[in-house]
Amino acid sequence: MRILITGGAGYIGSTIGSAALDAGHDVVVIDDLSEGRAEFCAGRTFYQGDIGDAELLDKVFSENRVDAVVHCAAHIVVPESVAQPLRYYENNVGKTLDLLDGMLRNGVHDIVFSSSASVYADPTDGFAVDEGHSTAADSPYARTKLMMEQVLADTAGATRLRAVALRYFNPLGADPALRSGQQRPHPTNVLGKMLDAWSEGSTFTITGCDWDTPDGTGIRDYIHVWDLAQAHVAALEHLRELVTDEQSYQVINVGTGRPMSVRELTDAFQQATGAPLRITEGPARPGDVIGAYARTDKAAELLGWHARLSVADGIRDALAWLPKRREMLGY
Ligand SMILES: NC(=O)c1ccc[n+]([C@@H]2O[C@H](COP(=O)([O-])OP(=O)(O)OC[C@H]3O[C@@H](n4cnc5c(N)ncnc54)[C@H](O)[C@@H]3O)[C@@H](O)[C@H]2O)c1
Repeated sequence: MRILITGGAGYIGSTIGSAALDAGHDVVVIDDLSEGRAEFCAGRTFYQGDIGDAELLDKVFSENRVDAVVHCAAHIVVPESVAQPLRYYENNVGKTLDLLDGMLRNGVHDIVFSSSASVYADPTDGFAVDEGHSTAADSPYARTKLMMEQVLADTAGATRLRAVALRYFNPLGADPALRSGQQRPHPTNVLGKMLDAWSEGSTFTITGCDWDTPDGTGIRDYIHVWDLAQAHVAALEHLRELVTDEQSYQVINVGTGRPMSVRELTDAFQQATGAPLRITEGPARPGDVIGAYARTDKAAELLGWHARLSVADGIRDALAWLPKRREMLGY
């Protein structure tokens, strides 16, 4: 297959690209490099530009016979989305509409969309959520994902579009072969902040310690980014069976099915580094949620996929990637 990955120079898109190349597919990337790295596009046909640029989309689709699109390009920082909602709606919603228009105009009908577990309402019965769990996005970022899921469902109902929304839980780690990893200088995800604190000898703040959970910290489902990438390859390879004329849109959880609290992650991190981490407690950030973990039966049944790697593997690969990130960013 020839797969177009939007945002394919970013953390997750580049890992999906490597997994797709390893599986024998061709990869084309569009990325504006607002956050991504050109280095991550080795071995792929790379177009630097904006998914909202109709001319660029027509050029990419006319120069490459694209079979399916994986749509990762987005702004992703929850507190930033609270402060700058219009910027988030413009990029994540407005420009995704442009992408869908461009696909349909050029006869490309298959899309796998990077959605997020942040679309779920707080869990009510334990912390596990399946795809039927009610949605209630808590931040502009999460609302952009939910809106796009609705747009995909409506468009798949009305056109030849076939769409799968993968709801990612909490990605961590790096490509185990270290071709790419987290590229932001100061990532805002929990492991990124832990790595920063550990390497700078500063204090790590657990944001949100009085949730109604066993240890007061949020519940997460940390999924290795390599497993996440494999789920995309499976979704692409099964897409035409997954979505039919009767059901042209599917939502699938991508998590491990194993809950872990933020505090437990700090324990796993200290085990991996063999050194204590200075930890303090702080209030939850705007848009933070109590969290949940995935029910993964649907992914197993429809994609034949389940997570294979552990949180310890993810921490190990993130630690191994850190010097490479520093070298790449020159600090
Ligand atoms: N990282 C997570 O924890 C997480 C969790 C759930 C869902 N997701 C989703 O996964 C996707 C990828 O996230 P990531 O962590 O790799 O982020 P990232 O910032 O590393 O990657 C996003 C990429 O998209 C590019 N981009 C942004 N807007 C663009 C535009 N208009 N045109 C072209 N390129 C554009 C950026 O340059 C960047 O390379 C996003 O859609 C995100 O919402 C991420």
